[in-house]
Amino acid sequence: MSTVLALETSCDESAVAVLRLEGSQLQVLASRIASQVAEHAQWGGVVPEIASRRHVEALPHLIGETLKESGQAISDLDAIAATVTPGLAGALMVGSVTGRTLAALHSLPFLGVHHLEGHLASVLLAEHPPKPPYLVLLVSGGHTELIRVGLAGEMLRLGRSHDDAAGEAFDKVARLLGLAYPGGPAIQALAVEGDAGRFPLPKGRVSKPSGGFYPYDFSFSGLKTAVMRQVESLKASEATLPLADLAASFEQVVADVLVERSLRCASDHGLENLVMVGGVAANQRLRNLMETTAAKQGIAVHCSPLAFCTDNAAMVGAAALQRLRSGVGFSSLELGVSARWPLDQSQALYDLSPPF
Ligand code: KG4
Ligand code: ZN
Repeated sequence: MSTVLALETSCDESAVAVLRLEGSQLQVLASRIASQVAEHAQWGGVVPEIASRRHVEALPHLIGETLKESGQAISDLDAIAATVTPGLAGALMVGSVTGRTLAALHSLPFLGVHHLEGHLASVLLAEHPPKPPYLVLLVSGGHTELIRVGLAGEMLRLGRSHDDAAGEAFDKVARLLGLAYPGGPAIQALAVEGDAGRFPLPKGRVSKPSGGFYPYDFSFSGLKTAVMRQVESLKASEATLPLADLAASFEQVVADVLVERSLRCASDHGLENLVMVGGVAANQRLRNLMETTAAKQGIAVHCSPLAFCTDNAAMVGAAALQRLRSGVGFSSLELGVSARWPLDQSQALYDLSPPF
């Protein structure tokens, strides 16, 4: 049995969780989030300096409250984990320094966690998590990737966005429509009333230099431009913008593209399970479309629970417990943070000589 305290501060959510692994049973004992979203919303996006300061202010209290809720004392813990890459360097530093300090003070091992490995592990918090091999569609504010997870947990990226991530497209289009940050939930709420077929929008594709298209890759920047043009022409002709129809048409084309390319990738690679994680995986239209379309192709869809799609610390704890179980050892207390680090090299976070 292992119990871990996990910290997540890579962007604009300060999050703390306590998780326990007993045999193969993963249990979230407590998971709390102090969101800064409302404060960043007035600037239309995340202000890194504000994010770091708020993490410093929020973490000590949040750690105390989360431990209390979990019924665990620090002396009951087997390890401390914190996200160390990728993300805003100053924000990551707060969680990392806090985690390493607690680990050193209480003579506990420390595990630095790759944020995307956390998102991937969030599906383990579902009621019936799938067993590898499976294909993961990771759709967040910073990433849109298709990753094959093999029998031994090995990861191979099969598709990616060449420009904006899907969540970034939601955020930018929301801003165009005058909606609040973060854009995903705002567009989803508005789109419920809209006509998703009213505005035909492009399904951006990425050309191969040798001709044809990369079948599993994405491009969302042209879509954002198309919405902008549509908005400009509507402004010239209509008194009020049909916001709900615009939101629904945009949301539909993003869902169509993600579903088509993910399922094609899964079926080309003979994978019968598709996992959807990350903030955009909280989108209801996407979840519904993925489930109904996949079912027709004999592919089962597994999503992380809604509460663990957007950034949280439970997913970080789940990734850390997976690492603990696999016996990789621990991270050095010298491990720092990095704004970027490739997911397929996350093993290096457990090297005796840390990569950053
Ligand atoms: O995973 P996440 O919390 O943070 C990153 O690691 O990036 O994802 C945040 C992104 C934002 O772009 C947000 O607009 C989007 O996820 N998002 C959604 C929804 N909820 C959050 N996008 C579409 N529909 C949603 N319901
Ligand atoms: Zn994230």
